[in-house]
Amino acid sequence: MCFLFIISAFLVFFCENCETAACSCAQCSLELLEDNCTEIIGHIIISLESQMPPYEMIEYKLENMQKLTGCLTIANSGFTNLSFLQNLEIVEYSEIGAAASCRTYANTITIAKNALLRDVSALKNLKILNSGENTEYGLYLVDNPSLCLEEEELEAFLRFDKFYAPHFRICHENLLNSGFFCFFA
Ligand SMILES: *[C@@H]1O[C@H](CO)[C@@H](O)[C@H](O)[C@H]1NC(C)=O
Ligand SMILES: *[C@@H]1O[C@H](CO)[C@@H](O)[C@H](O)[C@H]1NC(C)=O
Repeated sequence: MCFLFIISAFLVFFCENCETAACSCAQCSLELLEDNCTEIIGHIIISLESQMPPYEMIEYKLENMQKLTGCLTIANSGFTNLSFLQNLEIVEYSEIGAAASCRTYANTITIAKNALLRDVSALKNLKILNSGENTEYGLYLVDNPSLCLEEEELEAFLRFDKFYAPHFRICHENLLNSGFFCFFA
């Protein structure tokens, strides 16, 4: 009995190791990224739909990512939500190696000019956002006209160093007190 328990404990230990994969991805071309990466080192850039692989591939390649060492840029996308980032817990800004282009954008996470984006709740699992000294902003949330933030999302984001969102709307805010509201289809 005890023996069996020890074996199963070992299996769990080994399996955790198997599932962990740190993958390097220069200016991350998702087609070339290995599968099942839990850590990605590099600069993930998601932009115009016409220049991106199909959504299913983006989701498949990124949905296991728990840690990003580098930076993330989502600009001019057609996304309504960021559900493919729902496991992301840690983002550490880095310009080393594959992530050299992070310097160009100067933010750790840039989410800008996404006309249809209305829900960033996938980022609620983000616990650590380390931006270091070389960045302009940590989480840069600009020009996403359909977006509103839940109060608890805003609270979480405000805890991040260098959070920047000059104009944002709060979802479901008391209509008597405010002209801000937004609709979910
Ligand atoms: C990725 O994970 C899936 C499901 O767990 C598995 O079937 C597949 O073999 C894995 N791929 C790699 C390259 O590890
Ligand atoms: C999130 O976006 C994806 C891709 O556009 C979509 O398939 C999915 O239904 C969306 N989820 C929600 C909850 O809106």
